[in-house]
Amino acid sequence: MSTSPHSPQVTAIVLAAGAGTRMKSNRAKVLHEIAGRSMIEHALVAVAGAGVSTTVAVVGHDRDQVSEAITAYDPHVVHAVQDIQRGTGHAVQIALDALDEAPEGTVLVTYGDVPLLSSQTLSELLLDHRAAGRIVTILSAELDDPTGYGRILRDGDGAVTAIREHKDASDDERSVREINSGILAVDADFLRHAVSSLEANNAQGELYLTDIIGKAVAEGRPVGAHVLEDVWQTEGVNDRAQLARLGRELNSRLTDHWMTEGVTIVDPQTTWIDSAVTLATDVTLLPGTQLLGATVVGVGSTIGPDTTLRNVEVGAHVTIVRTHGSDAVVGDNATVGPFAFLRPGADLGEGGKIGTFVEVKNSIIGAGAKVPHLSYVGDAEIGEGTNIGAGTIFANYDGVNKHRTTVGRHARTASNNTFVAPVTIGDGAFTGAGTTIREDVPPGALAVGTARQRNIEGWVADRRAGTSSDKAANHAAETVGETSGD
Ligand code: UD1
Ligand code: CA
Repeated sequence: MSTSPHSPQVTAIVLAAGAGTRMKSNRAKVLHEIAGRSMIEHALVAVAGAGVSTTVAVVGHDRDQVSEAITAYDPHVVHAVQDIQRGTGHAVQIALDALDEAPEGTVLVTYGDVPLLSSQTLSELLLDHRAAGRIVTILSAELDDPTGYGRILRDGDGAVTAIREHKDASDDERSVREINSGILAVDADFLRHAVSSLEANNAQGELYLTDIIGKAVAEGRPVGAHVLEDVWQTEGVNDRAQLARLGRELNSRLTDHWMTEGVTIVDPQTTWIDSAVTLATDVTLLPGTQLLGATVVGVGSTIGPDTTLRNVEVGAHVTIVRTHGSDAVVGDNATVGPFAFLRPGADLGEGGKIGTFVEVKNSIIGAGAKVPHLSYVGDAEIGEGTNIGAGTIFANYDGVNKHRTTVGRHARTASNNTFVAPVTIGDGAFTGAGTTIREDVPPGALAVGTARQRNIEGWVADRRAGTSSDKAANHAAETVGETSGD
């Protein structure tokens, strides 16, 4: 086995020019996502993790969309355009032509629509390929139903002799259950020479990459198969039912992974975790939780039930209950929900609280500050230790522009306030209930903006005589008479 620190150079070719007709989509097949990544991204992540030095992607159908996604993931990937799909062998010819220099060492061929294929499998394939000193190593698998796949043909000694496409196979050959995954490792020099002489004399009139096996055997070069037990990793996606099946399987692998890392997942079936999510130990995920994008959750935090977080950075020992959030930050020991809506730019400080039926957007809420009930906080900065009363609206929008509100440290604003931005409430200031704050409040002041209350005695007896209200009022008056006890 090669233990040399100078492992030979590896060039990856990712085939992604096919049409994906059965997806019935305006979006390119390889751009459909599972676990928060498009299939083409899964393919690029897998090859990157296997230590390749150069990657070429072959694009064709929906090539603008596909190329854009590839470049967004990694601008160094070389794009090769295959306008007409003349087969996997033709696609590889085009990939080789797109490189400035002929590749050296090993070429790894993979597909853009096989999303469960892991870096580890590719690394094992490369190791096996090198260790066995082969010219070509196919990644194969045994399937209960091999229909449609190319079959691995072996001689009496078990040596691989050819790959036969289903459409070209005899009944005998079709009974073989070992299939070609399509993924293979091949010597770069051999590949170049072998694909240049492929012929399309087969049932589909295509240039088959798989014909290089027969060529190698004919030249007496060593070929073989690396058999993969985990058949999910060889499965391609052709329709949306397969996409869902593989999506659930990948999710189950991700939930299993996080459980082995010390995360409690009460119901893995209803918990969805994207590939790029990071969870610390002793995180607890309650049923119905979706952690999406680049969400990060710190030690000892509990999320859920029924919570969706996308690109949210959650600190340690946080509780988030029945919440929908995106592009937000929640500090250590903070609490959120139930029924909170964290919009982009919501940033809750350590030990702070965003409570029930509270929506927060583009606002910094300081350490220990609380917005406990029924509020909208938009474009605001709230200082540490401040408490915002129930039912407060930060009126940030004048119909044309957005403005900011600043509330200082350790302020106490009362229930049912409206802060008409731009406005500043000073450190340690108080406000009265029901006040609309249109002017700045100095530090330490009490702002009262409501008209003084006036009681008109006997109004109900006057204007609503004989109603149930009148009777209740009379009864109250009598009861007061009795209990006053004279
Ligand atoms: C291919 C293999 C078959 C294998 C199967 C595994 C060949 C001849 N056959 O068959 O042995 O069992 O994959 O799924 O290689 N593609 C291009 N350009 C082309 C043709 C294909 O980029 O001209 C891409 C497709 O987008 C896809 C991949 O190559 O990602 C495989 O193409 P597909 O048509 O699915 O190959 P199969 O005929 O199923
Ligand atoms: Ca296929």
